Amino acid sequence: APAGPAGTGKTESTKDLAKALGIYCIVFNCSEQIEYKMMARLFSGLVSQGAWACLDEFNRIDEEVLSVIAQQLLTIRFALLRSPPTDTFEFNDSTLKLNPMCGVFITMNPGYEGRTELPDNLVVLFRPVAMMIPNYSLIAEIMLYSEGFDDAPVLSAKMVHLYKLASEQLSQQKHYDFGMRAVKSVLVMAGALKKEYSKLTEDVVLIRAMRDSNIPKFLADDLPRFKALIQDMFPRVNIPEVDYGELQAQTEESIAIHRLEPQPT
Ligand SMILES: Nc1ncnc2c1ncn2[C@@H]1O[C@H](COP(=O)(O)OP(=O)(O)OP(=O)(O)O)[C@@H](O)[C@H]1O
Ligand SMILES: [Mg+2]
Repeated sequence: APAGPAGTGKTESTKDLAKALGIYCIVFNCSEQIEYKMMARLFSGLVSQGAWACLDEFNRIDEEVLSVIAQQLLTIRFALLRSPPTDTFEFNDSTLKLNPMCGVFITMNPGYEGRTELPDNLVVLFRPVAMMIPNYSLIAEIMLYSEGFDDAPVLSAKMVHLYKLASEQLSQQKHYDFGMRAVKSVLVMAGALKKEYSKLTEDVVLIRAMRDSNIPKFLADDLPRFKALIQDMFPRVNIPEVDYGELQAQTEESIAIHRLEPQPT
């Protein structure tokens, strides 16, 4: 049961472990709508195939449903512990094949809104694993190298620092994300831009990726702040205006039709 802040690799680590062991892993996003019957069907499949499930955001499930899930998992666990081992067992009113490779992982985000505390009989069935925020600069550096950047150590340090400052200094909005997921998508985007515009210098490419992936999300007040942060971090870089061509014209036209207010970037 990996638990930790968003983007620390809870889901990814579970998937990777399954891949390393050659086991099929189903990632299942849990929500308030989950019923115990759905889970019973999922578990039936897992135990008869020997597959794994990674139940993401497990603590969003309703508490009453969770306590039934605990009973279901306990039934499976007792069947697995039976001595001598058996290869069939009774579950959900039917006899199922029991493949001992099956496994269930749950990931939780402790700060998540609308979460429920897990019932004790469920907690004892899982081994807790605390996930920590990884070393962003190191990951960014390796990713930049793999995208073909030469100046990866400097650029990754600047970028991670910029993201840290942005997360502290811009207004707090639910849709802003400066975590690992965002860092990763910017780096992949920078790699694509580098291949497309081979004449641009590496810092301009990275700045453009950061601007393109963040600016559409920002509220008007945060735009100048983000620009200032980029200026501070890359003081001597002259950032050329990007010509978005037809896209820009069409966007402006749509803005006018819908009577929205354009914000200069
Ligand atoms: N240590 C790491 N090294 C490289 N990439 C990482 C690392 N941790 C996370 N990532 C990347 O960050 C992204 C988010 O990871 P993941 O989906 O596993 O997060 P999570 O902990 O499940 O987050 P959430 O609570 O939002 O579900 C993935 O693209 C993953 O590859
Ligand atoms: Mg996840």
